[in-house]
Amino acid sequence: MVKICCIGAGYVGGPTMAMIALKCHDIEVVVVDISKPRIAAWNSDELPIYEPGLDEVVKERRGKNLFFSTDVQKHVAEADIIFVSVNTPTKTRGLGAGKAADLTYWESAARMIADVSKTDKIVVEKSTVPVKTAEAIEKILTKNGHGIEFQILSNPEFLAEGTAVEDLLKPDRVLIGGRETPKGQAAIQALAAVYAHWVPKENIITTNLWSAELSKLAANAFLAQRISSINAMSALCEATGANVSEVAYAIGKDSRIGPKFLQSSVGFGGSCFQKDILNLVYICECNGLPEVAAYWKQVVDINDYQKSRFVNRVVGSMFNTISGKKIAILGFAFKKDTGDTRETPAIDVTNGLLRDRALVSVYDPQVTEEQMRRDLSQEKFAWDHPAHIQPASPASAQKVGYVMDPYQATKDAHGVCILTEWDEFKKMDWQKVYDNMVKPAFVFDGRNIINPEELRKIGFIVYSIGKPL
Ligand code: NAD
Ligand code: UGA
Repeated sequence: MVKICCIGAGYVGGPTMAMIALKCHDIEVVVVDISKPRIAAWNSDELPIYEPGLDEVVKERRGKNLFFSTDVQKHVAEADIIFVSVNTPTKTRGLGAGKAADLTYWESAARMIADVSKTDKIVVEKSTVPVKTAEAIEKILTKNGHGIEFQILSNPEFLAEGTAVEDLLKPDRVLIGGRETPKGQAAIQALAAVYAHWVPKENIITTNLWSAELSKLAANAFLAQRISSINAMSALCEATGANVSEVAYAIGKDSRIGPKFLQSSVGFGGSCFQKDILNLVYICECNGLPEVAAYWKQVVDINDYQKSRFVNRVVGSMFNTISGKKIAILGFAFKKDTGDTRETPAIDVTNGLLRDRALVSVYDPQVTEEQMRRDLSQEKFAWDHPAHIQPASPASAQKVGYVMDPYQATKDAHGVCILTEWDEFKKMDWQKVYDNMVKPAFVFDGRNIINPEELRKIGFIVYSIGKPL
């Protein structure tokens, strides 16, 4: 039986390995992590991450060919294929701080693999890493290993949160990069054989290592660029009376442009878009390509602009003062169907509103109060891009009300900001919300999910992104 071990039981490691276990009963899959609470949660009825459909997959294979363990060294030593899916955050100190990827976790995983391995291994980069990381990993493994063979593959993950199970079940493509040597090619084929259990062969793309590593950064940069492009248009729509949804529909009908990922919003969030673009910017700078770096940096700058523009619009339309006014925030997660708040625009918007002395009340169906408090207590990194929104003091977390019900959040509020596109906000009793708010009652729809005309009929003053008033 082939044995797979995945280091890192996070948003990627957990679901990806659960899918491999579901589709490959002839493979034993062990997901290991240094975090005891995380592994305990994977072994419990309350999984550490919320993903539609994931509970069923995990419950079906856990204890059969899917295992979660903190015994990292044992399972790494026993595995034939080791996926490394540890976090690769942005560096906060030293050279490249605020842009470069911090590979501390990756390097320590690689050193541990070298230490404990006694048999040949295929080591798979699942984490998103800078191009050429495989070369560094190869050096660490071969210089510290015990004379055994390591083949490094790059197999970046393209799943999106909230649709992870669906994306893993039917990936647009699986990308595997490896060395262009016979052993490298054999390793690629061994990994391709795992995915071939359920992914059509034509959707399994094989490339050299550097193309695979760079394709991941490029894919995220292109995706985020589309959002910044439509968000830039939304500002122009507001200034001219055009409607961004109509513009997006009209341009998306061009088959060369396509309709996906053109939803204007308060800004993109999530753990990866900003981090990966900044990393790309850094790589361009290091390779003497300042113009290319500046081009991609603008995607992040527009995203910051969109968040600060949203806050300014709230303050400006509410007679230039929100001091002492209750503002309800509906949705804190960075997108619907996830409890993840990493880099959520809600953090910057909440901090912006607090700075103008609003009384903020937040509701999100999936994010715990503890998580929101943590997010609001953290200083934003002093990153290289201009901070359009200054960080609020850590004490700001204390100033926010965290409630379990959207009607409680909006009661006696002057304004409502919709920051996550949860379906339940579309179906809310907006008449009831209006009746319990201070008048004039404002709605700022940061996700364009409500029908502004219907709400205006009730009596609300509605601001949508990129839409006429
Ligand atoms: P995560 O923070 O949820 O999980 C990473 C896990 O690795 C943590 O549980 C941590 O405890 C563990 N870890 C760190 N060092 C370890 C070590 N030495 N030994 C054992 N465990 C260790 O991160 P994530 O969201 O799963 O992302 C992982 C990687 O995948 C990142 O590079 C990210 O850019 C990339 N990625 C993420 C997504 C996503 O949707 N979140 C999608 C595609 C790619
Ligand atoms: C994104 C990519 O879509 C994945 O392919 C990639 O694997 C992943 O990053 C990663 O590398 O981590 P994710 O961040 O989970 O996935 O979610 P997305 O659906 O891409 O949304 C990201 C952000 O963009 C969210 O805040 C979302 O609300 C926003 N968005 C998305 C828009 O504002 N408009 C859109 O049209 C689409």
